[in-house]
Amino acid sequence: KVMVLEDRWGRQIRYLRLSVTSRCGMRCLYCRPPGTILPQASHADTLLTLGEIRQLVGHLVARHGVEKVRITGGEPTLRADIVEIVREVASVPGLADLGLTTNGLRLEALAESLAAAGLRRINVSLDTLDPGRFRQITGVDGLDEVLRGLEAARRAGLLPIRVNCVVMRGINDDELDELLQWGLANGWEVRFIELMPIGPLSARWNELFVPVQEMISRLTSVREFHAVSERKGVARLYEVILQDGHTGRVGFITPMSEHFCGQCDRIRITAEGRLHACLMTDQPVDLLPALRPRFDSARLDLLIEQALRRKQPVHPGYGMTMMTVLGG
Ligand code: GTP
Ligand code: 5AD
Ligand code: SF4
Repeated sequence: KVMVLEDRWGRQIRYLRLSVTSRCGMRCLYCRPPGTILPQASHADTLLTLGEIRQLVGHLVARHGVEKVRITGGEPTLRADIVEIVREVASVPGLADLGLTTNGLRLEALAESLAAAGLRRINVSLDTLDPGRFRQITGVDGLDEVLRGLEAARRAGLLPIRVNCVVMRGINDDELDELLQWGLANGWEVRFIELMPIGPLSARWNELFVPVQEMISRLTSVREFHAVSERKGVARLYEVILQDGHTGRVGFITPMSEHFCGQCDRIRITAEGRLHACLMTDQPVDLLPALRPRFDSARLDLLIEQALRRKQPVHPGYGMTMMTVLGG
């Protein structure tokens, strides 16, 4: 008696993005620039515990047919019990896929144990291959750590490895060829991401945004693009043939030029147990009353239903920009 979660627009939810901490060791320009006062780092007592995570994920998988979980942050590897969290989630019967999205800083030390705990795949955020730029973008001198983290993930068998690269005009848009060729040479799937008008760069979005069509025309090392298939998930994938004859894969994540909200199959739960029906909305529903002091599945279902009613057909950043573009 699995009751698949469905929103008001008929979209089925199969994918849970589970944040396990809102802390992060980096200060990325588009997320938290240097000098900003961070929201109070989560207190240990407000974070979902290992036991609560197990019950919550177990419920979503067993009762609602969720098939895929991606552990996120903040930076998920900053949570001291991250390996145990992965082990618990991985042991939920019926889960088809378990991934983790990370900035890669601590991956070298953790890749092996994460894989042993049952993690299948890893996605790493990396916007530049230049150490100085890396520092400008993230606030940290950590490019080497991230590159060693990627190698460690490969050795641990966390494959395929995806690299997420947010493209910003005048900041890293001259590096697309280099990133693509580096990705192909190493076997990573590089995915170029359109900047969204959210977060600290939102006021400069017009100046920094590079649309996917321009990214494609800037990839001068590529001779041919062939769409691999219809969109699966957030990325559109291409098989490319380079000028030098090499072939490989590259992805584009285009929340602005071609939003993928119509096929959205995901919800997000924050480290403190708040359910966001859309990654981009700020109207979460607090699930804690159904998890604490003890697990109450009937109450949980009511809260989930309440959150799903808030799921909009298109993410709010898209609407906002369309208004700007249309002058309305
Ligand atoms: P897999 O398909 O499992 O590899 O993961 P993913 O691509 O869904 O997750 P990842 O964390 O690697 O996200 C890649 C990029 O897509 C990041 O920039 C996210 O911010 C963005 N993203 C993920 N989910 C959504 C979503 O629901 N809406 C929007 N607008 N962007 C999203
Ligand atoms: N636009 C696009 N992607 C963003 N991310 C964060 N802020 C933005 C934004 N304004 C994504 C990036 C980053 C991940 C953690 O979140 O992909 O790597
Ligand atoms: Fe934000 Fe992710 Fe950068 Fe951390 S690594 S500052 S969470 S975008």
